[in-house]
Amino acid sequence: MFKRTLVTTALPYANGPVHIGHLAGVYVPADIYVRYLRLKGRDVLFVGGSDEHGVPVTIRARKEGVTTQQVVDRYHELIKSSFERFGISFDVYSRTTSAIHHQFASDYFRKLYDAGKFIEQTTEQFYDPETGHFLTDRNIRGECPHCHAPGAYGDQCEKCGSTLSPEELINPYNAETGNALVKKPTSHWYLPLDQYQEWLEKWILEGHKEWRPNVYGQCKSWLDGGLRPRAVTRDLDWGIPVPVEGAEGKVLYVWFDAPIGYISNTKELCDAQPERWGKWETWWKDESTRLIHFIGKDNIVFHCIVFPAMLKADGSYILPDNVPSNEFLNLEGDKISTSRNWAVWLNEYLDDFPDKQDVLRYVLTANAPETKDNDFTWADFQARNNNELVAIYGNFVNRALVLTNKYFEGKVPNPSDFTEYDRQTIDEFKNVKAQLESLLEEFRFRDALKEAMNLARIGNKYLADTEPWKLAKTDMARTATILNLALQIAANLSIAFEPFLPFSSAKLRNMLGLKDVDWNALGSLDLLPAGAPLGEVSLLFEKMEDAVIQNQLDRLARIKKENEEAAKQAELANWKPQGIKTPVSIEDFDKLDIRVATVLDCQPVKKSERLLQFKLSDGTGERIILSGIAQSYPDPSVLVGKQVLFIANFPPRKMMGIESQGMILSAVDADGKLVVTTVSRPVHDGVSVG
Ligand code: MF3
Ligand code: ZN
Repeated sequence: MFKRTLVTTALPYANGPVHIGHLAGVYVPADIYVRYLRLKGRDVLFVGGSDEHGVPVTIRARKEGVTTQQVVDRYHELIKSSFERFGISFDVYSRTTSAIHHQFASDYFRKLYDAGKFIEQTTEQFYDPETGHFLTDRNIRGECPHCHAPGAYGDQCEKCGSTLSPEELINPYNAETGNALVKKPTSHWYLPLDQYQEWLEKWILEGHKEWRPNVYGQCKSWLDGGLRPRAVTRDLDWGIPVPVEGAEGKVLYVWFDAPIGYISNTKELCDAQPERWGKWETWWKDESTRLIHFIGKDNIVFHCIVFPAMLKADGSYILPDNVPSNEFLNLEGDKISTSRNWAVWLNEYLDDFPDKQDVLRYVLTANAPETKDNDFTWADFQARNNNELVAIYGNFVNRALVLTNKYFEGKVPNPSDFTEYDRQTIDEFKNVKAQLESLLEEFRFRDALKEAMNLARIGNKYLADTEPWKLAKTDMARTATILNLALQIAANLSIAFEPFLPFSSAKLRNMLGLKDVDWNALGSLDLLPAGAPLGEVSLLFEKMEDAVIQNQLDRLARIKKENEEAAKQAELANWKPQGIKTPVSIEDFDKLDIRVATVLDCQPVKKSERLLQFKLSDGTGERIILSGIAQSYPDPSVLVGKQVLFIANFPPRKMMGIESQGMILSAVDADGKLVVTTVSRPVHDGVSVG
């Protein structure tokens, strides 16, 4: 019933490069799917692009001290070229700052506005009277109402983990300027999702039970919770201006304009090459188009509820038929994070491993977070490369090719009769095409890749069992049959792996002398005619050495250290003095005998990491005091000659075998360092302080 497929991938924010989490969750599975559809000869269009509006890009710009436009220009180019180098085969990759998109999204809003599809509501929002800006949740900070940590965000306290709303913060302030905030009324347009509730329930809960359980489940819980109107505009100066008179200073909410980017990018492509792609409306408004959104799990509500409601509000669009969404990929046990630089960045991977696109594609697919969160580790990356790609697939192909070169002058040998074992092996290929297809159609890429790898295993085992290198001494006819069959299997591998590992498949086809891939021929063991010459042989995969992997681990260790350092700095920046203790009487204070003394000598106490031994002149003679401040004074001699304050009437106390006669007063700085208090101009030793 469907005549064509439109595949979209979540538009990455242009606030940083893309990383392995994006790849595993969205782009690699989408690319596998699209390559498969193309091989099947289906009509397919693959849309991508950068999401260049929203708060994240503006935060990045401020952090880097450049304009927002500079940030999105830089990351759009970086992301686009990285995808190209990695073989993500978009038909169009554009951006949401393009003129076409601005016009398109603006018109889209205006059409719904004119048709009365929005409701307008005025609410009180936080406002910085000095800068004249309304603030988004993330840009508001204040004291956490739960744990009282300073500097909690308007949406979350990072100290105790509570989810917050800006209203709950104690003394909210502008995260950037520190200015105190006031409430000010502002009006916005809302999409009344509650009006779409019933329709969505029917469409998803009844009509799309085949969606992945994680997707269906999230939709169900949103719907069960009851939908509420959602604001589609914001008070911001970065974005697409709201095309309504009197809406100055307001822009479309990024989650309103970004998914429209799928449509405007399609239009950009179709307008540029109408003879190849036809009209954009055919892809978006014709019921015979199948629309598929590839996304990560944090995008589910937007693609399954909000965007479909927007499409429905317009009324002339098709709806997504499936929304394959993955869970998250972690890195070495920690959540991947752009702001904490905890990621393997695609551009850096490609710089470090310029010809190993397929190794990463393989590992990310074999370990794809399809049903639960998964972990990427460099040890697993190395193991999968060495034990699977090299030891099984590469080893098999290499043996078949090298032996053919050795015994048959690099030409496909002529087979004679098949043995029972040959027939069994051939049988294994009978259902391969159907099996792969049914897995791929169900978006089960992990299992599909396993299936393809299983074919390589069968080939590898076939050669190991038949040992043609031994037979060659006695039975050339049998050797020819074995190698013919091995080469036919290799040819099948080049087809089966084509959607997953396109670079290696092309390389393998060159070695086999195969011109193009014919998906329909998959399973046939008659792909290479006897006598056909092979191409030049080289290794399909290479062993990954320990040093290369260690290099990557060292990089991550460095980042972890930097992050810990930064966290400490942030804590210092947020430091506030303690509250004042309960009042004491002057009589109580008078009981303490605080005096001034000059430091005559100051030495570390042997075998103690903490203690310094002070020799003081206290006006009556010499006095020894031990103080636990050695960590703060690597060179204690700087204290010699200083006049310090000490408590003279503490009972003597023995530490490390030395008697300490009192206590020297120090201040504890925010970072925990101790600073000895000194007098600001010379006085007599022994005078009282009070
Ligand atoms: N930029 C969003 C993210 O990274 C995804 C936007 S998808 C689109 O989470 F539908 F809005 F384009
Ligand atoms: Zn808290």
